[in-house]
Amino acid sequence: MRVILAFSLFYSVAAFVPTQRSAFGVTHLASTTQDDKTEVREYFNTEGFNRWNKIYSDSDDVNKVQLDIRNGHDQTIQKILNWLQADGTVQQQTFCDCGCGVGSLAIPLAQMGAKKVSASDISDSMANEAKRRAQALGIQNAEFYTSDLESVTGQYDTVTCVDVAIHYPDEKMVEMIEHLCSLSKDRVMISFAPKTWYYVFLKKIGELFPGPSKTTRAYLHEESIIRDALTKCGFAVQREEMTATNFYFSRLLEAKRV
Ligand SMILES: C[S@@+](CC[C@H](N)C(=O)[O-])C[C@H]1O[C@@H](n2cnc3c(N)ncnc32)[C@H](O)[C@@H]1O
Repeated sequence: MRVILAFSLFYSVAAFVPTQRSAFGVTHLASTTQDDKTEVREYFNTEGFNRWNKIYSDSDDVNKVQLDIRNGHDQTIQKILNWLQADGTVQQQTFCDCGCGVGSLAIPLAQMGAKKVSASDISDSMANEAKRRAQALGIQNAEFYTSDLESVTGQYDTVTCVDVAIHYPDEKMVEMIEHLCSLSKDRVMISFAPKTWYYVFLKKIGELFPGPSKTTRAYLHEESIIRDALTKCGFAVQREEMTATNFYFSRLLEAKRV
């Protein structure tokens, strides 16, 4: 069983392994971060869009790995929705979903009757697909636009950022968390791939086998770094979850302003 899990996670990490590294490596943080962002934008506007649009849909045109990632991601989304359902306050709240993808969270939030959902993504293709899906469902209380999360403005009751952190190193994530917190009146929900010895080990193995398709760099994060960043911004973690399937793993934190 353990061998099967290791094998599966090995491939899941391999799915995020870089195929195009900067010649300068990680020692040049500023340029690496810029490269990360440019690379992520390009990826999610092209091959990444085709891939993730299928994963985040009901399409049968997915392989076993993609299906497993879809199921894992669905679980993360459902955990967030369950928390909100239990609170029973969605209808009084405004939401800002940063890195909204094709609207997997923003659309159900709007359907639950959120006062307003403002959802954005660095990728034009992802944001436009989210808008298209919302329009097809007749959703009126959500807006979708293209923006990197650092450029998002406004004040919202709840700010969410799901499965975006994997694209950025710790230092950049701390800056991003500061910005997410500055947008939030009450609550931030963030998910990330946790840096445990086991996942680090699997990622290292995965890097030896980058696979045929273009991907982006993948960063695991020390949970303490994410928590410290939230604390510094005046937020305290109230609820937490972990989702791990064979090919997907994501730690989810809900932090409230104290
Ligand atoms: C793995 S997808 C997750 C999408 C969505 N949050 C969800 O859970 O369905 C990551 C998304 O983050 C977006 N993204 C990456 N970096 C971003 C940034 N700096 N600002 C805004 N969006 C970003 C990507 O374009 C992509 O749509």
